[in-house]
Amino acid sequence: MIRQLLVAFASALFGCHANLAVTVVDSPFGLDKFVPSTTCVAPDPSSLPPRLSETGCVDHLHPAVVAEELLPFELNVPSWNGGAQKSGWFTLPEGRQISVNGGQLQFPPGTVLMMNLLVDGKSLETQFYSASNTGEWFGYTYAWRADGSDADLVPADGGLFTIGAISWPILSRDTCIQCHNDANGNAPGMEFGQLNRAVIFASERRSNQLATLDHLGLLAPALTASPDTLPVYVADDGNAAIDIRARDYLHANCANCHRPNSSSEFLDLRASTPLGSTQLCGIAATRSFAQFPGALRLSPGFPLESLTTLRMRSSDQNVHMPLPNVGALTIDTDGVAVVEQWIGSISSCN
Ligand code: HEC
Ligand code: HEC
Repeated sequence: MIRQLLVAFASALFGCHANLAVTVVDSPFGLDKFVPSTTCVAPDPSSLPPRLSETGCVDHLHPAVVAEELLPFELNVPSWNGGAQKSGWFTLPEGRQISVNGGQLQFPPGTVLMMNLLVDGKSLETQFYSASNTGEWFGYTYAWRADGSDADLVPADGGLFTIGAISWPILSRDTCIQCHNDANGNAPGMEFGQLNRAVIFASERRSNQLATLDHLGLLAPALTASPDTLPVYVADDGNAAIDIRARDYLHANCANCHRPNSSSEFLDLRASTPLGSTQLCGIAATRSFAQFPGALRLSPGFPLESLTTLRMRSSDQNVHMPLPNVGALTIDTDGVAVVEQWIGSISSCN
C-alpha cells in the first residue's frame, strides 16, 4: 500500500520517492471496496479545526500524509491558480452514493472534498469544500507554514499570505460560491470530462477513475457505457484540434461562473454549448473599456479585438478575467495563447 502524499501522485511516486519499491500495474479498477473514513468527516462550520493536522483528513503527526481511506482524484484540465499544481481527495459517508446528472457528479450530505495546491513542489494551501449532514456546502482553507510542519486555518476573509519566498493570495470563504454552486453540483471539477482519466490508486494499480467509482458502487445511476465512450477534456494536448482545446480551457476556467443558473449566466462557456449559443461570438460587450475601443466579446478571426482574450491578458484587477482576484494577479500565458489561436482561426460565429 502506497502512502498518499499531498503532492501529485506521479511526482510522489517517481520524483521524491524514486527509490520506493513500488510496482504500478494497469488494471480495470483501482480499488475493490470503498471504505468510508471514520476520521475525515464534515466539521461543524462554526468550529472548524484550527490546524490541518486536526481535520482527520491527514495523518495527525505527519500532515503531508493523506488519511488512508480517502479516494484520490485528478482532473484532465485543472483551472489556472497562479501556476499551482493540484491534487485532490474525497470521502463520503457510509451507504451514500454520488448522483450523476448530465455527466456532473453531485455528492451527498456529509461529503468532504479536499484539494492541495503546490508551487515548486511545496504545499501552499489546502482547500476544503464540505457538505453538512443536511446538505449545506461550505468552503474553508488552510495556509501552510513555510517549514511544511502543518497548515493553519485561514480566517474567513482570506488575504495575502507570505509562505517562504512566495506571496500567495487566498480567497475569502464567501467567494467560493461564485464558482461552487448548484449548477455544477457545488464541485466544479467533479464531472465526466474532467475525471475520465487513469490515476494511480493506493492499491498500486493504475485505473480509470470513473470505472473505479462505478465498480465501487458509488455512482447513481451506474455507468451505462465504458469510459472510452464518455467525454475527455483536453487543453494542453498539442495534438488535439485547437477549437476543442480552447473550448475545454474556457470550460474549466470560465464556465463555473458563465453557465446557466450560475453567477454570471449572461455567457454560457461550457464546452458542450455550440459557439453560436455561447453569447460570445460577434456580440457587443455590456461593459466597455477605454483601452479596448470597439472590442466585441469575441471578434471572429481577431483575438486582439476580442474582450475574451484581452481581459485574460490584462493585469488590471478591474479588467482581468476570470474574476475574482485577491492580491497578486497572475496571467496564464499558455492558456491565453490557446484561446487567441482559436479566435484567430474562427471565420464565422455559426
Ligand atoms: C474562480 C472560481 C472558483 C472559486 C472562487 C473557488 N473555486 Fe474551488 N474550484 C474551482 C474549480 C474550477 C475547481 C475544479 C478543480 C480545478 O480546476 O482546480 C475547484 C475545485 C475545488 C475543490 C476540489 C473539489 C472540486 O470541486 O473539484 C475544492 C476542495 C475547492 N475548489 C475549494 C474551494 C474553496 C474553499 C473556495 C473558497 C475559499 C473555492 N474553492 C473557490 C473554482 C473556484
Ligand atoms: C468568478 C466568476 C467568473 C469567472 C470564473 C469568469 N468570469 Fe467573466 N465575468 C464575470 C462577471 C461577474 C462579469 C461581469 C462584470 C465584468 O464585466 O467585469 C464577467 C464578464 C465577462 C465578459 C464581458 C461580458 C460583457 O458583455 O462585457 C467576458 C468576455 C468574460 N467575462 C469572459 C470570461 C472568460 C474568458 C473567463 C475565463 C477565462 C471568465 N470570464 C471567467 C465573472 C466571471
